[in-house]
Amino acid sequence: SEDARLVVVSNRVAVPKARGAAGAQGGLAGALNAALKDRSGVWFGWSGEETEEHSGEISTQTTDGVTTATIDLSKRDVDEYYNGYANSTLWPLFHYRLDLAEYERETGKGYERVNERFAETLHPLIEDDDIVWVHDYHLIPLGERLRSRGVKNRIGFFLHIPWPPTRLFVSLPYHERLVRTMLHYDLLGFQTQEWLDSFLHYCRTELGAEVDDATGSITLDGWTTIARAYPIGIDWDHFTSLANTGDARQAEQRLLSSTRRRTAMIGVDRLDYSKGLPERLDGISRFFDRFPQRVRDLVFIQIAPPSREDVESYQQIRTLLEQKAGQINGARSEVDLVPVRYVNRGYNHAELFGFFRAAKIGLVTPLRDGMNLVAKEYLAAQDPEDPGVLILSRFAGAAAQMQEALLVNPHSPDDLSHAIATALDMPLEERRRRYDALISTVRDDNVQDWTNNFLRDLDAR
Ligand code: G6P
Repeated sequence: SEDARLVVVSNRVAVPKARGAAGAQGGLAGALNAALKDRSGVWFGWSGEETEEHSGEISTQTTDGVTTATIDLSKRDVDEYYNGYANSTLWPLFHYRLDLAEYERETGKGYERVNERFAETLHPLIEDDDIVWVHDYHLIPLGERLRSRGVKNRIGFFLHIPWPPTRLFVSLPYHERLVRTMLHYDLLGFQTQEWLDSFLHYCRTELGAEVDDATGSITLDGWTTIARAYPIGIDWDHFTSLANTGDARQAEQRLLSSTRRRTAMIGVDRLDYSKGLPERLDGISRFFDRFPQRVRDLVFIQIAPPSREDVESYQQIRTLLEQKAGQINGARSEVDLVPVRYVNRGYNHAELFGFFRAAKIGLVTPLRDGMNLVAKEYLAAQDPEDPGVLILSRFAGAAAQMQEALLVNPHSPDDLSHAIATALDMPLEERRRRYDALISTVRDDNVQDWTNNFLRDLDAR
């Protein structure tokens, strides 16, 4: 029912003191914060802190109407569950990067152990009428763990990242065991039809489940669940209300006055190999090779807060980016001009709003992405009378809803270079036409709708 208490569970919780650096926390934390703001409920997860031993202590905090309940994890848990299985096995595999996926027995055990720990700690907090909503790849088995403790509440699961094609997914040892746990949820949500189709295909062909594509119902061994696509959106009202803040105005002015007559092009991404950052720099490099005189027209600002720094593939991508940014600047700078500003820090949402508005080109070119909310935020920050141009990877989940963006293949430097040239020269009329075609999905398919749609279907189960 409408006023049932909502229990949200995710690995990452935006605990109030850590809120702010929006680029660093990823889409999940911002969305869940918005989802909880208007409901009574609690948000349960990891505090982000490491301790010597696991204590089982829960620390709760209520700020702006959102109650968080967090636990610390031991160093070993963080290593095996978070750095290990979640971010060295599932994350690369789910982003189609078999080459980066590691398969270690120990980390798999750590993943199961921490999911059991979450279930054990969370169980006593769940009251009879609560609705439980579990999020993302860190916690796939949690629903089944709660069921085995006798939890009868409605439990839903939402995956914020892609679901890979069956032929890739079967490279995961014990893949069947992992997916079978998912059938214990009452409702499974995916970002796009494409990821949903891959999941249904797996259930049908590998598990031999009975699958109804029209309703998304999956039946196996007497369990039936429903799987559907629920594209996530931004908190439109909140984000656009930032336009009038001092932070946003200052950020916009700062960028405009420092770029003067040059067009600012911006990218904002966690420093992650799925975001296509080296490929993006290759595209920019190609653009300057093709049009050397345009070095005076364009300045590229890449905001890339470091992420998951204990994982080796993240250390490597960082080194690679430093090389590439350094190479372009070494080759193309003048004493009074630097073409690439590469920034390893996060900014709050108001500042990002200002930067997005000052930048006439937004570059969102992941190699693979569940949705990507930066694409939506970039558009939401534009002046409708004089909007900037969004260049968007066709491999971002967002592309399914945003066909009127300049869609690119992020693997192709020529394609990127060509899109940048097109964006720089795009007449106002075409910019407006594209913006008008895109903005309604950004405004109307927002995070409140996403929450309401998912919870309505979960409630109906
Ligand atoms: C992605 C994931 C989230 C995660 C976020 C930030 O958006 O889908 O689950 O919270 O990245 O990554 P982190 O490892 O810092 O939580």
